Amino acid sequence: MTVIPGPSAPPILQTLRWLLRPISFLESCRRNFGDTFSVRFLGFETPMVMLSDPEAIRALYGNAEHGLPPGRTIALLPILGPRSLLLLEGKEHLARRKLMLPPFHGERMRAYEATVRDVVAQDVETWPEGEPFAVHPHMQRITLEVILRAVFGVTDPHRRTRLAERVGQLLADTASWSLQLAVLVSRRFQGPDPLARLQQQRRAIDAMLDIEIAERRDDPREDILSMLIEAGMDDAEIRDQLMTLLLAGHETTATGLAWTLDLLVRHPHTLQRLAEGDDRYTRAVVTEALRLRPVVPLAGRRLTTPMQVNGYELPPGTDVTPAIWLAHTRADRYPEPFAFRPERHLDGAPATSSWVPFGGGVRRCIGAAFAEMEMRVALTEIVKRRALEAAAKDAERVARRNVTFSPAGGTRVIARRRG
Ligand code: HEM
Repeated sequence: MTVIPGPSAPPILQTLRWLLRPISFLESCRRNFGDTFSVRFLGFETPMVMLSDPEAIRALYGNAEHGLPPGRTIALLPILGPRSLLLLEGKEHLARRKLMLPPFHGERMRAYEATVRDVVAQDVETWPEGEPFAVHPHMQRITLEVILRAVFGVTDPHRRTRLAERVGQLLADTASWSLQLAVLVSRRFQGPDPLARLQQQRRAIDAMLDIEIAERRDDPREDILSMLIEAGMDDAEIRDQLMTLLLAGHETTATGLAWTLDLLVRHPHTLQRLAEGDDRYTRAVVTEALRLRPVVPLAGRRLTTPMQVNGYELPPGTDVTPAIWLAHTRADRYPEPFAFRPERHLDGAPATSSWVPFGGGVRRCIGAAFAEMEMRVALTEIVKRRALEAAAKDAERVARRNVTFSPAGGTRVIARRRG
């Protein structure tokens, strides 16, 4: 058997370091073991091999046959349901993916820009003037509202509020690192299921979704829900896919925006240039922010065929993932890798194998274009309406929230009305 070097600490310690200080954990692995190393997480029988070399990432994502590592299913199945696109595999996954892709591209997607603009304009009016506040919760409100309108097409504001409350609660309850640890511990020691309460919450949300689905069956509209109905899905599957889009798309995009704002308020020249409204520059800002502050740290596969990497042969069954932070901070790909410099992307997008905030291959995020559009439109609207400055001396530290890297202090800023 191939043994990939990695930290020798017991799995419980490796897991705690990963949950509590992920960046310093990854950096110490890079220092000690280089491009490829293996990590042992509590509750998993086999180690997880982490990569950051672009060629290795290309090879991993280029093979459509690989499956999913068990981590994704354990954490998400009870909440998303068995038919979620995030959890399907093989032919079934590809067929569902083909069905769900169209609304996330081209003209269809551009139609949602106006929705994003409206939602941002409304939320910005509720921001405090001239005093510090955390902007991350506002980004969460914005992205949740955008999903409820664009994906679910919920037009009744009372229903939107009730759904938003329920979903917000579900997400808050899944967010803590102690819950993540409880899940791993109960797997290891077969204790009571810490996710039972979440499933109860999911059922309450389902009841509300059923009303929306029934209405859209009678009266189709421009939202993504209507398109899933048109594609011939039954109600149970639609509920799973809606929860998937909601959970995969809302928190991630909000966190991407919060990180971008944290970087911008510490780089006033960039902020100023962004406010000039050049679309190409706005795109570069989003690309650079997702590089330097990747929201999702891992997007792995379970090998179905052997893979060569850095002189090792990894056998089928090995769980392998890019360590996205490490892939994005390689000095050979990004000179001065820790500097926030959107200019580096003005001459073209980075290579897909060294910029992987959305994963890759046949499982790459289907909401990537939607998320980038939402970030672009939201940032443009925000800087048009408010002058921003940092409210805390130091840049935000990375904390884990659900499966994401999130700004620990919620990105505190001071905002002043423009003009
Ligand atoms: C900045 C925001 C976002 C980030 C960083 C992000 C990141 C990711 C990542 C890393 C994956 C796994 C990819 C892989 O395994 O190769 C993924 C999958 C997925 N994302 Fe996103 N995402 C974002 C926004 C969205 C949005 C807005 C939606 C939908 C509204 C969405 C829906 C999905 C779905 C359905 C999948 C599963 C795809 C599949 O397995 O085929 N995401 N996302």
